[in-house]
Amino acid sequence: MHQSELDFTNNLRQASPYIAKHRNKTIVIYLPGDLIFNSDALQQLAKDIVLLNNLGLKVVLTLGASFQINQAFEALNIPWQTQNDTRITTLEHLEVFQKTIGVVRAQVEAAFSKASAEQNIHLTIVSGNWVIAQPKGIINGIDFQHTGILRKINNQAIENTLNAGQVALLTPLAYSLTGEVFNLNTLEQAFAIATKLDADKLLIFTDQATLKDLPQALSRKDVKNHLESSQNNSQKRLLKLATEANEHIRRIHLMSQDNPSAMLLELFSRDGHGTLIYNDRYHDLRPAQSDDVAGIINLITPLEQEGILTKRSRETLELEIHNFLVIEIDQKIIGCAALYPIDNQNAELACLAVDKAYQGLALGEELLNAIQKKALDRNVSTLYLLTTHTHHWFIEHGFIESTPSQLPESRQSFYNNQRQSKVLLKKL
Ligand SMILES: CC(C)(COP(=O)(O)OP(=O)(O)OC[C@H]1O[C@@H](n2cnc3c(N)ncnc32)[C@H](O)[C@@H]1OP(=O)(O)O)[C@@H](O)C(=O)NCCC(=O)NCCS
Repeated sequence: MHQSELDFTNNLRQASPYIAKHRNKTIVIYLPGDLIFNSDALQQLAKDIVLLNNLGLKVVLTLGASFQINQAFEALNIPWQTQNDTRITTLEHLEVFQKTIGVVRAQVEAAFSKASAEQNIHLTIVSGNWVIAQPKGIINGIDFQHTGILRKINNQAIENTLNAGQVALLTPLAYSLTGEVFNLNTLEQAFAIATKLDADKLLIFTDQATLKDLPQALSRKDVKNHLESSQNNSQKRLLKLATEANEHIRRIHLMSQDNPSAMLLELFSRDGHGTLIYNDRYHDLRPAQSDDVAGIINLITPLEQEGILTKRSRETLELEIHNFLVIEIDQKIIGCAALYPIDNQNAELACLAVDKAYQGLALGEELLNAIQKKALDRNVSTLYLLTTHTHHWFIEHGFIESTPSQLPESRQSFYNNQRQSKVLLKKL
């Protein structure tokens, strides 16, 4: 088999659990205007969204159009004003808005028609007056006129559209109950809709400057810290929205608009892509199962290579998997720990590890507590562990230093003199 064929089959196999996991889940995707303006990127993205729909995901698209609207104003020589990063929309602007957004919508619909024809299915993309707007109002003496804010969302109507297998499309235009037209911030709409629909994920494409210095994963607590230190206005705005919404939205994925394929990597590969803002209430600490072996290997291999953990073969892990607990976030194993019985009263804690991107969130402590509880449930009175690098952490968690000669006899013969690990113990 050629390498490319091997890669293809392996990748398809790796994607399989994610395909199963995402089926029937609702995702909201925010596309900024400048991404839509790039016709190649738009076409690529349309293909990928048709694929998502084909795989059973329910997709809501929210379109930004600031880039196109700025271009239209410049071409017509129409000045505009912003206040606190929000555009003031006058009656004169409104006409340009409606025309420009009509064009953007047509471009998106055309890209979808082509993409679905190429994949031999007929996917319909539907938009409607699902969002009820109200005026943003007069703030500090400044009248925002036709700039609106979201008043209500008819989520049932959006759900009906999704359940009919269609993609729901929202633009910055929304209407008030008095029949007036308003310009709404679509990024804010995307957060509100994801919340209201109880979406599984909110995927946001944004520029490199907004993503700068953001790590691979951020918990709610990290988002607040980054928000305080961020120097970039658009990053601040995004993180602020994420802090407010993160209680309700399980996962917010930030992806570079320079790489529209990031969306498929984020959804269907183990390592994902971009920055994940996760709601730490949703991580799952549970006994490991045999299909977690690959995830555990992924997590501990770098630590084995650094000599922090002793090497365990795949076969050993498969045989000993019932000793392990794991933490899973977003279908990824990000923590593990094992409890090995020594005799009736003694057991050993081993292989405690937390993925670097998630360290410092007390997940290590949570795993340790769960191992201690498991040991207590089995009437273990002393918990031992051997460590070369981490004894301070364990001492801070109630362990005391011991010596190899104090290990239970049956364990002493396995002590590896070359590693010279420190022996610690904790009376439970
Ligand atoms: C040790 C480990 C499991 C802790 O996981 P965690 O989820 O980050 O732990 P917590 O959030 O509960 O604790 C984080 C604190 O431990 C500290 N810490 C991490 N590793 C440490 C070490 N080797 N020595 C001393 N302190 C350490 C961090 O600096 C942090 O301190 P702070 O709260 O004052 O900022 C994780 O760092 C890890 O996986 N390390 C590599 C594997 C390893 O050493 N395993 C033990 C082998 S037996």
